[in-house]
Amino acid sequence: MRLFEHMNIENNVLTIGGIKTTDLAEKYNTPLYILNGDAIRKQCRMLKREFNHPKLKTTILYASKAFCSKAMYQLIAEEDLSIDVVSGGELYTAIQSGFDPKKIYFHGNNKSMDEIQMAVDYKIQRIIVDNLMELEYLNSLDAPMEILLRVNPGIEAHTHEYIQTAKETSKFGISFESYDLGKAIELIQNSDTMTLKGLHCHIGSQIHEISTFEKTAQVMLDQIKLLEHKYHLKLEELNLGGGFGVYYFEDQEIKNYDFLNVLLQYIYGYISKNNLFIHHIMIEPGRLIVANAGITLYAVGFSKETLSGRKYIFVNGGMTDNIRPALYQAKYEACVANNMTAENTSLYTIAGKCCESGDVLIDEVSLPTPKIGDILAVMSTGAYGYSMASHYNRIPNPAVVMVEQGNSKVIIQREAYEDLIRLDL
Ligand code: LLP
Repeated sequence: MRLFEHMNIENNVLTIGGIKTTDLAEKYNTPLYILNGDAIRKQCRMLKREFNHPKLKTTILYASKAFCSKAMYQLIAEEDLSIDVVSGGELYTAIQSGFDPKKIYFHGNNKSMDEIQMAVDYKIQRIIVDNLMELEYLNSLDAPMEILLRVNPGIEAHTHEYIQTAKETSKFGISFESYDLGKAIELIQNSDTMTLKGLHCHIGSQIHEISTFEKTAQVMLDQIKLLEHKYHLKLEELNLGGGFGVYYFEDQEIKNYDFLNVLLQYIYGYISKNNLFIHHIMIEPGRLIVANAGITLYAVGFSKETLSGRKYIFVNGGMTDNIRPALYQAKYEACVANNMTAENTSLYTIAGKCCESGDVLIDEVSLPTPKIGDILAVMSTGAYGYSMASHYNRIPNPAVVMVEQGNSKVIIQREAYEDLIRLDL
């Protein structure tokens, strides 16, 4: 199992951000999501350093869907990043956290009229328009609007099919070959209120092949060149989306992020050579910023060995706090956080407490013999864990604790049973 820089082992116990996980489990109870704020900030700063070019304006948008809370938005604001939101709920949370609307970009393939009104009222930076009907609706509003158009560059990213977003069958964006694209551009050109600032694409998530991002940039620039010529456009902005792959287990990650700088150099070269107007490049990483900063602590409960010899360890959470293994066959590493130096004795299956056979967090992990009450830590759960949590079996959502500069604080409270019936009539 990989120990990230912000983790350590002290007297046989896993620490995160200098604090013993056993102390955190005792103080805040389990299951517990822990995020290391220092590690999140480090990623933000690394991105700002690498995604930088002397001749181009660059903006990094944190993709809120990975993990969204008021405290997270405050941290992102302190690090001077922008954000993307995809729903009224994310937008509301951002505004409530005090986030500057001029740094908010609003996505979504089916924004409701209320959500669009919220975006207009808050005067957010950009609406990223997904389709022609949305554009027609926006045009009917009497509000000045600078927009990006989401296009589908038709690139198949090598990742799980549920998190690919730019196949020809995808629900997102308008394909370059589609008749709708010309109609969309003409609609904007004839509009009194809308201005087309640029294009957006996002090809998928947890992508490890750097060449996929290079290919995307190339396809986007080629198409922008054609569109500028055909429609006499002057597009200023290009948003290349997120999707940068991180380490979950073994050798899955992008190792070196200086490729972002190389990407910008390529983009600048292309722009200069072809006299394109584009001068503002954006990316939207979510997972890369929070995934490895997070862990989840569980208490070990009962264990059992099936007739076939499968050894189960049951923990006091499961698919309600991490749906990713069930949904995408996602793999994770884990350890017994209170017994880090003991020898592994066997392969175990970590299963949750939900009434569902698919409620397995880890299919096979080598661990020391577990005891009831041990603290099991699942690594790299910072992204798409809490944000995809459910209440299946009326299991309350765990608390989220932020560890920073050697201190810990609750940033999202643990739900109580009363919270579960709060809206019941
Ligand atoms: N921008 C757009 C338009 C997106 O749709 C996404 C992710 C991102 C940015 C951020 O992608 P990231 O850098 O985090 O990979 N629930 C799935 C991931 C779904 C991602 C959806 N869109 C998972 O747990 O793997």
